[in-house]
Amino acid sequence: MNPLKKAYCRIFQNIFKFALPLLPYRNPKIIGSVKGIPEVLEKRDYNNVLIITDAGIRSLGLTERLEQTLKRSCISYHIYDKTVANPTTVNVDEALHMYLDNDCQAIIGFGGGSSMDCAKATAARIAKPHQSLAQMKGILKIHKKLPLLIAIPTTAGTGSETTLAAVITDAQTRHKYAINDFPLIPRYAVLDPRLP
Ligand SMILES: NC(=O)c1ccc[n+]([C@@H]2O[C@H](COP(=O)([O-])OP(=O)(O)OC[C@H]3O[C@@H](n4cnc5c(N)ncnc54)[C@H](O)[C@@H]3O)[C@@H](O)[C@H]2O)c1
Repeated sequence: MNPLKKAYCRIFQNIFKFALPLLPYRNPKIIGSVKGIPEVLEKRDYNNVLIITDAGIRSLGLTERLEQTLKRSCISYHIYDKTVANPTTVNVDEALHMYLDNDCQAIIGFGGGSSMDCAKATAARIAKPHQSLAQMKGILKIHKKLPLLIAIPTTAGTGSETTLAAVITDAQTRHKYAINDFPLIPRYAVLDPRLP
């Protein structure tokens, strides 16, 4: 590695190491069942949400209990279920349009890391409509409040329901990159043992 670049990296790492305790990390509030979601939405007077998931999860009927729960509480929902493994910029664009076209008020990311990251990146695009995802690549490029984001993991391991990252793949170049900023940490994580 170029010595100048190496020095820059070391300085950057050390500054971050000391700044770490001062950074605004927060934990998502944990909900133990999808049945707790209407209360969170009703508290904010929200009655129209976008669920972002993938076709496999949908075909297994995993979203069914959430859908029934929302219906019982008279909360409208729209479902974007075209998320692919390693979600792409096209996925995020499509989900964004579904959110805007239907005047949704919150996003529920339902699935593995791919669906949750697609939901997080969609929320980032809503908060920053004039910036592309590529421009948000890296660290601390969002610094804006996102719409309410609820993550419902159905796989174990990525931890995306708690992290400040969204990993996205450029649909054209296939370049995969991470967007990292504190607003990307979901407000709520639903850890429902009946889901996975
Ligand atoms: N944001 C982060 O902090 C973070 C961290 C690590 C990885 N990631 C990203 O997460 C993605 C990978 O996520 P993943 O490994 O959870 O897989 P995934 O979300 O890509 O899902 C893989 C497959 O599992 C299926 N699936 C999901 N839940 C299921 C269930 N309960 N039962 C049966 N099938 C189910 C899905 O339909 C899909 O076909 C990658 O894009 C990676 O870059 C993000």
